[in-house]
Amino acid sequence: MTHTKLRKLKISYGDNHALKEINVDIPDKQITAIIGPSGCGKTTLLKSINRIIELSEGVKVRGEVLIDGANIYGKDADVLALRKKVGFLPQRPCPLPMSIYDNVAFGPRIHRLSEEQITKQLEKQKTNGLVKKEKSKKYQDYSKMDHLVEHYLKLAGLWDEVKDRLHSSASKLSIGQQQRLALARVLAIEPEVILADEPTSALDPLSAKLVEEQFKLLKKDYTIVIVTHILRQARRIADYVMFMYLGELIEHGPAEKFFNAPQKDKTKEYLSGEIS
Ligand SMILES: Nc1ncnc2c1ncn2[C@@H]1O[C@H](COP(=O)(O)OP(=O)(O)OP(=O)(O)O)[C@@H](O)[C@H]1O
Ligand SMILES: [Mg+2]
Repeated sequence: MTHTKLRKLKISYGDNHALKEINVDIPDKQITAIIGPSGCGKTTLLKSINRIIELSEGVKVRGEVLIDGANIYGKDADVLALRKKVGFLPQRPCPLPMSIYDNVAFGPRIHRLSEEQITKQLEKQKTNGLVKKEKSKKYQDYSKMDHLVEHYLKLAGLWDEVKDRLHSSASKLSIGQQQRLALARVLAIEPEVILADEPTSALDPLSAKLVEEQFKLLKKDYTIVIVTHILRQARRIADYVMFMYLGELIEHGPAEKFFNAPQKDKTKEYLSGEIS
């Protein structure tokens, strides 16, 4: 189990103090929504959780992000292992210029999964209850990687729509399908935590609903942190809410309490639409 804790986390871009001092524990196997107006630091906060923030120019990170008790910004932190444990789903899907199949297989191949590891990975998922225990005979006809690709496309809720065209180009998919393909790609690296930055903002309402539904299913086995500026979406899917304003974490707590009995004036103003 992953425990994610932010301690005295401060992030600046040059002179711009984008995050002031964040202290929060992110609950395991729930959906946490980070909400707040544009420019308040939501993406910065999300990207700090797997150090992808360090790709931004002039960024400075102080404080700690503890995952399973270890500071990911510590001197001997293993960034590659971290990125495998904490997957990132960007705002706009950008499929690799290859087939649907190869997009999903890319991560496992990069991480050089041997046949043996693939079997182990699938076994683990079986015991987690994520794969229906089907007769393994069915799979003897095709390779383990085929099985893996099918598995993650199913987890991402895309399998039925693409099973007959796995080897056609991923760029031909609709944006909503591409977003679920991006989710399948993240899932295929077997993360424990999924970070998603406004994952439905480029989608039509129906595709957005499909992605939301998928997150709700996945939280059984994954810790999910999602940035959204859509309050209704946060109400629909969040178990836990973090409200950011001008780089500060104003209020955080279980969704029901947050929405029904907010404590801080700023939160009340935001929820009532007085500030946006
Ligand atoms: N790469 C960067 N270089 C310099 N400043 C940045 C960079 N990225 C973000 N900022 C600044 O940091 C602050 C927080 O930005 P961030 O992108 O985290 O906000 P956000 O809440 O995700 O906004 P939005 O809802 O518009 O996506 C803003 O003032 C922004 O201008
Ligand atoms: Mg953002």
